[in-house]
Amino acid sequence: MTAPIPTPTVLGIETSCDETAVGVVRLGADGRGEVLASLVASQVAAHAPFGGVVPEIAARAHVEVLDGLVRRALDEAGVGFGGLDGVAATAGPGLIGGVMVGLMAGKAIALARGLPLVAVNHLEGHALSPRLAGPVPFPYLLLLVSGGHSQLLAVEGLGRYRRLGSTIDDALGEAFDKSAKVLGLPYPGGPALEAAARTGRADAWPLPRPLLGRPGADFSFAGLKTAVLRAAEAAAAARGGDGSGAGELAAQDVADIAASFQAAAADVLADRTGHAMDDALFTDPAHRRFVVAGGVAANLTIRARLEALCAARGFAFLAPPLAYCGDNGAMIALAGAERLAAGLVDSLDAPARPRWPLDAAAATTAPATLKPGRKGARA
Ligand code: KG4
Ligand code: ZN
Repeated sequence: MTAPIPTPTVLGIETSCDETAVGVVRLGADGRGEVLASLVASQVAAHAPFGGVVPEIAARAHVEVLDGLVRRALDEAGVGFGGLDGVAATAGPGLIGGVMVGLMAGKAIALARGLPLVAVNHLEGHALSPRLAGPVPFPYLLLLVSGGHSQLLAVEGLGRYRRLGSTIDDALGEAFDKSAKVLGLPYPGGPALEAAARTGRADAWPLPRPLLGRPGADFSFAGLKTAVLRAAEAAAAARGGDGSGAGELAAQDVADIAASFQAAAADVLADRTGHAMDDALFTDPAHRRFVVAGGVAANLTIRARLEALCAARGFAFLAPPLAYCGDNGAMIALAGAERLAAGLVDSLDAPARPRWPLDAAAATTAPATLKPGRKGARA
C-alpha cells in the first residue's frame, strides 16, 4: 500500500498474446475511466500462415513495435511521460515471452521516470473493461469469452472476483478458430465462421452441447470441436470425396456446419450463464447486471442469445464497445488506475506469470483438468 492517488492518469501496456496494445486512461472522480488513447498493433497477418498464434513470433513482434506505440499513445493522449501518475503492464497470465516484453518495458519506464508500477492481471483488465465505456457499478456477472479464456466471474469489487465457472478444456474462441480451420475458413476463424453461418441452417447438423443441463457453470468445448470435424468428414463423404478434407466441402456444407456450431455454442453459453445467474449474489435485483467481454462477444448470434437470457432473467445486458472487448491497453491502464486510486502498487521485482488465476481459491478446486491451450497457459 502507498498513499492513494485520487484521479490518476496511467499508461497501460498489454503484450500477453498477439496484440501489442498501449492505452492511456485518466480515472475521473466519478470512478469512470476516460480513455485518452488506445492503440492496438495486431499481429494477425504474422500468425495467419500458421493458422494460430506462434509464441516466439508474437514475442519478437512485441519487441519491434512496443516502444513506438508507447510514443504514439502518449502523443495522442496529449500527455508526456511527465503527465503520468503511474505505469501499468500486464504481468500475466499469457504467453510468457510476450508478457516479459511488456512488463520489462513498463518497469523501465517506471524506473526511469520515478513512477509507481502496477503489475496487472490480464483477466482483471477484462473484468473491469466495461467501466471504460460508462459507469458500471459493482457487483456484476461477467462472461469472458476470448481465444484464451472462457470464464464466468462474479465481479464484486476491485480485486474481488469469484469464479463461478471456467472451461475444462478449450476456450470458446479457440473452438471457433479450430472449427473454422476444419471448414477451410481463414484465420482468425471466429469472424469467418460467423460470416459463413449467415447462409447456413442451424438445425442441419445435430452437434453436441457439452455439459448442457448439468449442475454448475463450467464449460467444455473440445467435444463440440471434434464433432465439427466428424460432420465435415461426413459431408465430404456424402459428396463423393474420401472425407479427408475441407477442400471437398460445398459452400452450403460449410455454411450449415458453421450455423450448427454457432447454435450449439450459443445454447451452451446461455445454459451455463443461466446457472451462474442462480448465484446468491444475484438474488438482489439491484445486483442483476450482466457483462459479456472478450473477442467472441462480437458474435451477433451469441449476443442475441445472451440478451434474450438477460431479458428473461431480469438482468441488465451490458457489452463494452468492441474496441474494449478484445485485448487492449486501455483496460490495463484502467486496472492500474483503479489500483493506484486504492493505494495498491507493485515493486520493480514483480514476476511475469504464465498462470495467474484471478480467483486463487477457485483455481485450486474446480475445474480440475485445466491444461495449456493454444494461447498458452490458462488462468
Ligand atoms: O479477446 P480476443 O481479441 O483475444 C484473446 O483471445 O485474448 O479474442 C480473440 C478470439 C479469437 O478466437 C476470435 O476467433 C474470436 O475471439 N472472435 C470471434 C468473433 N470475433 C472474434 N468469435 C466468434 N465470432 C466473432 N464474430
Ligand atoms: Zn484477453
